[in-house]
Amino acid sequence: MDLRYWLPRAAEVAERWGERFGPLEPHPSHLVDEADFAAAFERFAKRLEHNYPFFHPRYAGQMVKPPHPAALVGYLTAMRFNPNNHAYEGGPATNDMERECVAQLAAMFRLPAHVGHLTSSGTIANLEALYVARQSHPGRGVAYSSQAHYTHSRMCHVLGVSGHAVAADAEGRMDAGALEELLRTGRVGTVVVTCGTTGLGAVDPVHEILPLARRYGARVHVDAAYGGFFALLAADDALAASLGVDTAPWRAIAGCDSVTVDPHKHGLQPYGCGAVLFADPGIGRHFAHDSPYTYFTDAELHLGEISLECSRAGASAAALWLTLQLLPLTAQGLGAGLAASRRAALAWAALIEDSTELTLYQEPQLDIVTYFPTVAGVPALSAVDAAGERVLRQGMADEHDPVYLSVLRVDAADFTRRHPGVRADAGGARVLRSVLIKPEAQGWVAPLHARVCALAASATRLPADVPAGPPDVPVDRPDVPAGPPDVPVDPPSPSSAPSFEESAR
Ligand SMILES: Cc1ncc(COP(=O)(O)O)c(C=O)c1O
Repeated sequence: MDLRYWLPRAAEVAERWGERFGPLEPHPSHLVDEADFAAAFERFAKRLEHNYPFFHPRYAGQMVKPPHPAALVGYLTAMRFNPNNHAYEGGPATNDMERECVAQLAAMFRLPAHVGHLTSSGTIANLEALYVARQSHPGRGVAYSSQAHYTHSRMCHVLGVSGHAVAADAEGRMDAGALEELLRTGRVGTVVVTCGTTGLGAVDPVHEILPLARRYGARVHVDAAYGGFFALLAADDALAASLGVDTAPWRAIAGCDSVTVDPHKHGLQPYGCGAVLFADPGIGRHFAHDSPYTYFTDAELHLGEISLECSRAGASAAALWLTLQLLPLTAQGLGAGLAASRRAALAWAALIEDSTELTLYQEPQLDIVTYFPTVAGVPALSAVDAAGERVLRQGMADEHDPVYLSVLRVDAADFTRRHPGVRADAGGARVLRSVLIKPEAQGWVAPLHARVCALAASATRLPADVPAGPPDVPVDRPDVPAGPPDVPVDPPSPSSAPSFEESAR
């Protein structure tokens, strides 16, 4: 898709359609001088250079990448109309597209029936699910794993319900035994399972937790904001087996009460495009409200009548709809990209396991790889943390051969449970974390590995007392891109760091 062709076409659609209403001059108050605009645009473009190459495999940090060109063209084309999907009269075309997209998402999870809508984010989608949970089970709390996204406890606070963190097992998945102990107290009305935790990409055992929760009369909400589209791979037994994806948790989603999935993560969409789906179409009653100034064009419940938010961009629905026309929700459609990401994660994990410079923190369950520089002798957490920090900063600071990673803070017990040979001389350590969300990563695993190994070799050679400098980024917020380094770091010597391009050949 050539954007130089399609962007002018995108501009034409609304113009051509608008002509039928007769000529219209813009109001003088909105006219801007072309030269002024050109100058402002130059300043604007310059500002955007202060950024990270999310599009490139050199960026192997957070779960960020540019949208698919089809999504971009769809969004811009619809944005010229600027529909508001709150109510049908806000834009019938994009309201219809939203309903169709939501039905396709529900089919991906094999929900037998559904009601749902797009949201501005995964956080808002989860908020809606927890709101319905509270209305359905008043006075009872919400359980989520200690590895769940931080916004679950925040949203419990917002909703005034008690939130309970449940211990995770040795692979970062919710521990069903610990959950049962909590369920026995009768204080929990809803269990949140995560299919793809933000930090490790761990998949909670939905198939075990669902029957357990049902025994105690609890609802189950699935937070699949990041991992949800991996359901496409789990739908195909042979493919799932070849990719080491356990199908059981994904298939159990069909029996759960609600699901969050973020098309603005693995669904190739621009921010903000999340989605919440409910298995019971009757939950609309929890959103009942009086809005005497809207809802006059449709007999069905308007999208605003089943959601907490009011205005929402119809352009988001348009972008998703157009993307799904080209890359449908099948293993061979959108799933092909996820399979490549998964293969990249498996390949890199294997290389790390064979290397002397890096140690795998744990086996990837989806496409998130976690690892740390191998520290010689009897390693301690503080040394692992400092070396990882140096790799992160030196990788970003090297202008000629940069690589962008992210870090995940893990506590000492979680770390030593996986790596008992590491001495717990600190409360925790940061491990390096790469979300291989771009399918292009598959072709770049070898150079990426070589580059990170070289950085790790250099980082572990430094004397332990060299201060790494304080982190300038919220490293415990794995969904936020890391900021630039605030301390000057020496680039690794050319001998220790083969160039990314050289190794890519
Ligand atoms: C599992 C999970 N849930 C919820 C969220 C929050 O989603 P959003 O950033 O779209 O609000 C994230 C974000 O990374 C996530 O990974």
